[in-house]
Amino acid sequence: MTQPSLSLVDTDPAELAVDAIVIGLHSQPDEDGALLPAAGAESIAAAFDGRLTATLALLGASGAPGEVTKLATLGTVAAPLIVAVGLGSEPSGPAPELETLRRGTGAAVRALAGSSTVALALPLPDDDASPVLRAVLEGALLGSYRFAGYKTKPQKGRRDPVTALQVHVPDAADPAAAAEIERAQTVARAVRLTRDWVNMPPNELRPAGFADLVSQAATEAGLGVEVLDFDQLKAGGYGGIVAVGQGSEAPPRLVKLTYTPDGVTDPKRVALVGKGITFDTGGISIKPAAGMWEMKSDMAGAAAVAATLLAVAALKPGVAVSGYLAIAENMPSGSAYRPGDVITMFNGKRVEVFNTDAEGRMVLGDAIARACADGTDYLFETSTLTGGQVVALGKRIAGLMGSDEAIELVRAAGAAVGEPAWPMPLPDDVRKGMESEIADICQTNSSMDRAGHMLQGGVFLREFVAEGVEWAHIDIAGPSYHTGEPNGYWTKGGTGVPVRTFLRVIDDLS
Ligand code: BES
Ligand code: ZN
Ligand code: MN
Repeated sequence: MTQPSLSLVDTDPAELAVDAIVIGLHSQPDEDGALLPAAGAESIAAAFDGRLTATLALLGASGAPGEVTKLATLGTVAAPLIVAVGLGSEPSGPAPELETLRRGTGAAVRALAGSSTVALALPLPDDDASPVLRAVLEGALLGSYRFAGYKTKPQKGRRDPVTALQVHVPDAADPAAAAEIERAQTVARAVRLTRDWVNMPPNELRPAGFADLVSQAATEAGLGVEVLDFDQLKAGGYGGIVAVGQGSEAPPRLVKLTYTPDGVTDPKRVALVGKGITFDTGGISIKPAAGMWEMKSDMAGAAAVAATLLAVAALKPGVAVSGYLAIAENMPSGSAYRPGDVITMFNGKRVEVFNTDAEGRMVLGDAIARACADGTDYLFETSTLTGGQVVALGKRIAGLMGSDEAIELVRAAGAAVGEPAWPMPLPDDVRKGMESEIADICQTNSSMDRAGHMLQGGVFLREFVAEGVEWAHIDIAGPSYHTGEPNGYWTKGGTGVPVRTFLRVIDDLS
């Protein structure tokens, strides 16, 4: 579904004739428990004649982060509805935590499905408001996401997402604010596109179709596009992608997207690599039936990389960025690869396969080696690689492995945008445990021990990174797909992680 339009307003919020106004509400730690309207809500509080926070408290509001309370205004202000979003205790600094604002705005806009025009009157600092405005805009645009789906009849009583957002700022003619609107539309479009691709059912998004969707969008955006089909992958020596892809009637693809900045001599080179398994049955080492459907999201890394490149084409940073999508369907069949197979990868290394369900590292090894062969200074790879990531860090925090500088870039960017990633080690012992008797390396621990298997993934992928390349592996098995109830700006299904991290890293390198 298309995302809401955004506009800036500097009219008094109490006078805005919109369907609803979103304001912030702080919890106050003093004894009488009075709540405090956040900055931006002054004129609305005044219109309620001092009874706004007491009324909200009567409705159960506490100002806790993420809490959403609706209040009918009964003519006190022009809009018929106010939505107060909890922002926690009043900040000591200029504004609440960015992620609190992002999640709160997302929750409020999500709760307003069914309204068409919504105004946001949230706290913005007087100077350098851009980061705060950015958080508010991203929260609003992502919280209003809904997957179009496949229902043949419109659902009764279903309320559609908000279509227009007016953002209250001190000066609606401020060029910096206008630039943030422009940027937020681009960034949110990329995150929402990632979510769409991840949410598509696996019969609707098979390797060739996924590669086609990406190529078409990338060509329209002015990116360079190269697509390798099955025969070209075989001829090119992409043993890992071929091995995984050969078990499916829908053959694999490797897609490369390129952005080159205008007028920058010798720009830094950044490569993004994504795992694009359109469905992961496990192959011959087949997965249990329960929950297998979720493996339609096993292309979340490739989706994030492709969408990031599309955003890059619009944002035009001063670094060269290329994206590599390793796309295949992991199926059991008479032509599938087997446990015990020895596979020669793109960089010439030979891998002994123990578990065909560790297919991600097979396709990624090739894509990483290809990216390095093309030449790059930085390489950031992301994948729904291991269940071990979810065990170790949960559903919100990605696992992060690689070389020091790249890790720190990703960690800092992720923390800033609300996509946390936590550094994990690449121990020598784990590499020793992956020695093969007949090949250069085993695909998993040779004793099939699952201990620390997130780390095995990182240690394996390191084998395919060329000397001197700063690299990071971001395991997004948990954070890429949200199975619980909607929360903040996260809706059910694909989350779009780590698109905003990538864009931030690219910004930081520009
Ligand atoms: N795609 C899965 C990892 C996964 C699990 C992603 C749960 C999202 C949620 C991956 O291909 C896989 O099957 N990994 C195996 C690796 C093992 C065989 C070494 C795993 O995690 O069990
Ligand atoms: Zn997988
Ligand atoms: Mn697998």
